[in-house]
Amino acid sequence: MSTYKQIVLASRPKNEIIPSEVFRTEEGGPIPTDKTLKDGEIAIKVDYLSLDPAMRGWMNDTKSYVPPVKIGEAMRAYGIGTVTFSKHPRYNPGDLVVGTFGWREYVVTTGSGIEKVILPQGATPRDFLSTLGMTGLTAYFGLLRHVPENVLGPNCTVVVSAAAGATGSVVGQIAKVKGCKVIGIAGGEAKCRWVRGELGWDGCVDYKKKGWERDLREAVGRGGINVYFDNVGGDILDECLKLAAPHAKFIICGSISQYNTSKPQGPRAFLLVISKRITLKGFIVFDFLKEYDQARKELAQWLLEGKIKRMEHIVDGGIDAAPRALVQLFEGANTGKMMRLLLPLSRRPSPNCKRPPLIPSIRLGITEGSAQILRNCRDLWGQGLDSLCYWMRCLEMGQV
Ligand SMILES: NC(=O)c1ccc[n+]([C@@H]2O[C@H](COP(=O)([O-])OP(=O)(O)OC[C@H]3O[C@@H](n4cnc5c(N)ncnc54)[C@H](OP(=O)(O)O)[C@@H]3O)[C@@H](O)[C@H]2O)c1
Repeated sequence: MSTYKQIVLASRPKNEIIPSEVFRTEEGGPIPTDKTLKDGEIAIKVDYLSLDPAMRGWMNDTKSYVPPVKIGEAMRAYGIGTVTFSKHPRYNPGDLVVGTFGWREYVVTTGSGIEKVILPQGATPRDFLSTLGMTGLTAYFGLLRHVPENVLGPNCTVVVSAAAGATGSVVGQIAKVKGCKVIGIAGGEAKCRWVRGELGWDGCVDYKKKGWERDLREAVGRGGINVYFDNVGGDILDECLKLAAPHAKFIICGSISQYNTSKPQGPRAFLLVISKRITLKGFIVFDFLKEYDQARKELAQWLLEGKIKRMEHIVDGGIDAAPRALVQLFEGANTGKMMRLLLPLSRRPSPNCKRPPLIPSIRLGITEGSAQILRNCRDLWGQGLDSLCYWMRCLEMGQV
């Protein structure tokens, strides 16, 4: 009987994640079939797993907005998958579904916590893990529900940290739709080039460069920051507090610079909140669950109209590489939404077939259009073209 794999939490990290200590690969169980399913159950083959900074918090044994992952339990993760067998009245084989599948190759469920995907015009299944998924919705609600409509506009300077990431890149693009001046903060000139060039923001500051504080001050200008969307906390939050305009709104979405430490640092410039009358607003995207459908409609429309550009960082291969990919998220390896593609055993390429290089398109200096072609090509490679080498297939199709 064929079995599938899962990755479980073996121990809780104290600081940084050391994959070999923190995770363990196990046999998950037999690959579900029509015969093994009970009435009311669905079998799902997981196609993509989402890699999210929040996963680091779920490993801690502390009280939070969701319970911690238990030791020995499959690591919690969102995913998108395909129904392979169904004995549930609402699902049919071939249906696309999203949900909290965990680091597993297959899932059997009665349907709780999963959602059937109905693709809006022009959308792709993967959009449901990115722009139309948790990160896009976080950007949407974080900005639009916490900053009054009449504040967003040409006189509003919005600063976004982790600007080239999944959430940040959508926040800034929505702010541009609303007509704001948008300044990003990202790690590295290549990411900043993408933010300025492809996304068309008014500026982007590389916080890894010496003197970035001065660059940020100059990019923001004399009017100061009206809205700061904080994804990172730490020194960047402090610097933005210093540059805040009176009555600025600070949306506290995440604090990734502090997730890997047992002693997180709060803002040192906190007293400026008083003198500048700054509003700090924390939130969790699940607060807006009832409004997801409406938000998805608007986000899908912006995607269709090209007002929001999608960017995905796909790490392909089997489930075993998920822990390392999670670590890479904290190292800033991604531009856009980071996901892991799970290739079924039967569809892995032959050993002679050279894998396409995984080079973020920004490092190649190629445009979003060419990047999309490369990504399409990578997908073709992952969809059963085992006997053909990737580059040969692309050449044959005239795509490179
Ligand atoms: N409140 C909510 O409901 C909610 C929901 C989803 C996400 N979030 C939060 O939103 C933030 C972004 O999440 P995401 O899923 O969109 O991830 P992401 O931005 O796609 O990826 C994380 C990025 O963080 C940056 N980063 C890593 N370490 C950093 C450090 N020490 N200082 C500054 N930047 C650092 C890296 O980019 P660079 O190369 O630019 O450093 C990395 O690419 C996270 O803090 C997450 O926890 C909150």
